[in-house]
Amino acid sequence: PPDISLTNVKAHLTQLQSIATANGGNRAHGRPGYLASANYVKNLLDGAGFTTTLQSFSYNGATGYNVIADWPGGDPDDILMVGAHLDSVTAGPGINDNGSGSAAVLETALEVSRQSLAPSKHLRFAWWGAEELGLRGSQYYVNNLPSTERSKIKGYLNFDMVGSPNPGYFIYDGDNSDGVGSGPGPAGSAQLEATLAAYFSSIGVPTRGTDFDGRSDYGPFISAGIPAGGTFTGAEGIKSSAQASLWGGTAGAAFDSCYHRSCDTTSNINDTALNRNADAIAYAVWTIATATPPV
Ligand code: PHE
Ligand code: ZN
Ligand code: ZN
Ligand code: ZN
Repeated sequence: PPDISLTNVKAHLTQLQSIATANGGNRAHGRPGYLASANYVKNLLDGAGFTTTLQSFSYNGATGYNVIADWPGGDPDDILMVGAHLDSVTAGPGINDNGSGSAAVLETALEVSRQSLAPSKHLRFAWWGAEELGLRGSQYYVNNLPSTERSKIKGYLNFDMVGSPNPGYFIYDGDNSDGVGSGPGPAGSAQLEATLAAYFSSIGVPTRGTDFDGRSDYGPFISAGIPAGGTFTGAEGIKSSAQASLWGGTAGAAFDSCYHRSCDTTSNINDTALNRNADAIAYAVWTIATATPPV
């Protein structure tokens, strides 16, 4: 798997910040900064040879958009999806939440194109609208998939907040190995978790599970029985002293003290966390999508 360029990922964040700044300071559903962000992502993917769709939906009296990008080739009946929400709250530009996941997934997709990857699975990338208003874009996408299409999606990887300034290294707990919280994901989720865990293990970074508590866009997928996984570096939660011993950073402070605030700017990113998570995304995409026989 490739080493994803942190420089390139951060250049996308700079662009998303500029789009917010030029559009009233945010990239929220129904605001001009959202559609400008969607067009930024779509234009790069179109130029890289993806087949893209701007899927529109209506919520709260405004039009929202999902950007869906298919990489031509692979088994059409065996699809791996990778997604991130592209909208912010109205309070600020949403650079960690969720420019970070959006930029890391985008750069992974562009690297698929640069390498002319020919995976055995079909790859589909997604940038969701209106997550902040209740997972509206991802829910619309899943609700509007014919059941035959739904059954072709064998896994969904979600990345929401992967550059938190006081980071933790969390992987969605697909097998409920800690025995607490929301229980396991659909069968197959454990394998997605194990693949992401193998990457962090390979670089010597310890990880912990985080529950499928329904707070991000994997929710509609697991409700539909689609295996899901992904990573997360923490939101408003407080880093414990045990977590600070494990990962460094500041005990007693939030993973992201600018969560849903105007200060979630390009300054609100831990480069090491963003770099590690971008590389983890690429590791998972390459490992899962190119496996023979496909897994
Ligand atoms: N989805 C939440 C938001 O966008 C953040 C979050 C992500 C919380 C993942 C928990 C797990 O505000
Ligand atoms: Zn949010
Ligand atoms: Zn988010
Ligand atoms: Zn687990």
